[in-house]
Amino acid sequence: MSKLLRLPGLIDIHVHLRDPGQTLKEDFFTGTSAALAGGVTTVFDMPNNSEPIFSYNKLIEKMKIVSQKAVCDFGLYFGTDGRNIAEFSKVQKLVVGLKIYLNLTTGKYLVDDEKMVDKVFQAWQKDKMIVVHAEGDKIDLAIDLCRKYKNKLHITHIATRSDLEKIMDAKLLKLNITCDVTPHHLFLTEKDLPYLDGFGVVKPSLASQSDADFLWDNLKYIDCIATDHAPHTLEEKKSFDSPSGMPGLETMLPLLMTAVKQKRLVLADIIRLTNTNPQKIFGFKQDKETYVEIDAYEEYEIKKENLFTKCGWSSFQGRKVKGKVKNVFIRGTKVLSDGKLLVSPGFGQNILP
Ligand code: DOR
Ligand code: ZN
Repeated sequence: MSKLLRLPGLIDIHVHLRDPGQTLKEDFFTGTSAALAGGVTTVFDMPNNSEPIFSYNKLIEKMKIVSQKAVCDFGLYFGTDGRNIAEFSKVQKLVVGLKIYLNLTTGKYLVDDEKMVDKVFQAWQKDKMIVVHAEGDKIDLAIDLCRKYKNKLHITHIATRSDLEKIMDAKLLKLNITCDVTPHHLFLTEKDLPYLDGFGVVKPSLASQSDADFLWDNLKYIDCIATDHAPHTLEEKKSFDSPSGMPGLETMLPLLMTAVKQKRLVLADIIRLTNTNPQKIFGFKQDKETYVEIDAYEEYEIKKENLFTKCGWSSFQGRKVKGKVKNVFIRGTKVLSDGKLLVSPGFGQNILP
């Protein structure tokens, strides 16, 4: 048997596990099982549930559900429509950060009024993260507000050269700004749309090859890779009006391991982007005994039949990858081995005490 490679358990700071509200697409058990199958041992779940997490009560309800169902560790985000600022002081200790949508995406929770965005940046605790969905001009707005109020700002799923350049400039100003990219913006482009059809619909949209190349060439300015795991049902994605989003938890690590083989990045990049930086940026420590063992030489094809995600499809279906997750350990317990889950719902813990 080949020797297994050990990596620290991956931390995915951006997932949508749809629970409560849309458990037809995913729930905390299937979503965190998919995480483990992909070598991800901690997920941070977004607040755009069908009834968004805009109040203390909704957050408490979600915390109860996730603690009963999760098989990997987790953190939750709070959400805002700009009208729930009075809730902030009650929830700040309970969440990993605040998510605000400055561009339209699933759930239509866009905050369009700049005065409201200003109030949100002013009110949110300065040493807790604000994660923004911002593209184009909205990135300028978020950076200006971060400068004005000295926030901790993270701009998620950067997809284009021009957006990354804005962040590279802001980093020169020594602002407290970080960013991530998704595997789909690294490994897919608009050229894949004809065959992906609805399965390529995502926000931000898949970009050009030169945009993707720019992301690859400037990985050193990127702080994290996060999946934006956003499952929808097969029927929805096949429909004329495919909702934006694709699952990613089970394919991120094999895609990245394959890219290591192709010399597009090195193992130390994977560790920095999926483990050490997420801890540094969000200010928490992962247990040393939380890790993944990978057979770096095993080749396989991504097949929908083998997925744990409830949605049951992947935009990377049919791709050949090299690097298979064999065993996953959380806090010293073996939680997954050879595609078999070994722990019960409720094993996963909130990373916040
Ligand atoms: O494509 C996306 N889908 N982008 C997002 O930002 C949200 C996500 C979802 O919740 O479906
Ligand atoms: Zn998202």
